[in-house]
Amino acid sequence: MEKTFAMVKPNGMKHALLGSVLSRYEAAGLAVQAVRVVRMTREQAEGFYAEHREKGFFGELIDFMTSGPVALLVLGGENAVAAVRAINGATDPAKAAPGTIRFDYAPSVGENVVHSSDSPESAAREIAYWFQPSELVDYAVSKRIATL
Ligand code: RTP
Ligand code: MG
Repeated sequence: MEKTFAMVKPNGMKHALLGSVLSRYEAAGLAVQAVRVVRMTREQAEGFYAEHREKGFFGELIDFMTSGPVALLVLGGENAVAAVRAINGATDPAKAAPGTIRFDYAPSVGENVVHSSDSPESAAREIAYWFQPSELVDYAVSKRIATL
C-alpha cells in the first residue's frame, strides 16, 4: 500500500468542501491515515513549497496558502499518489477533466482547492514535514461482508 500527502487549500476550507473532498478519496478506495487542520505560518509554507522558491508565482502561492486554515491529509491505498492526483485533476482547472475536484470547484490555477504529492518520494518528504509516524492510522484492509 502506498501513502500520499494531500491538502484542502484555504478556499476549499472556506467553501466547506472538506467532507466532499474526503468522500471522493474514500469512495475511490483510499483510507484517511491522518487529518489535521492548521493555519500555516509563512515560514512553514515557504519550507513546504521550497522547490517553487524561484518561480514567479511563489509570493502569490505563499500569500494564498497562509490566507486561512488548510486541512493536511495522509491517504493510503493502492497507487495512492497517482490515484489522488487523478481525482484532483489537472493543476490548471481550465484543463481539468469533468468530474475532477478542480473541474468542479477550482476558480483558477492559483486557487485550485487541493494539493497532492507528485511522487512517492515527495509524499514521504511532505508527510514527514507535517506528521510524526505515530500520528498515522495503521488502517486495516478488510472486506465488508454483506448480510441478508
Ligand atoms: P499541487 O502541488 O498543489 O498538487 O499542484 P501541482 O503539483 O499540480 O502543481 P505545482 O507545479 O506543484 O504547483 C504548486 C501550486 O502552485 C500554484 N501555481 N500557480 N499562477 C500560476 O501560474 C501557478 N502555477 C502553479 C498552484 O496552486 C499549484 O497547485
Ligand atoms: Mg506539486
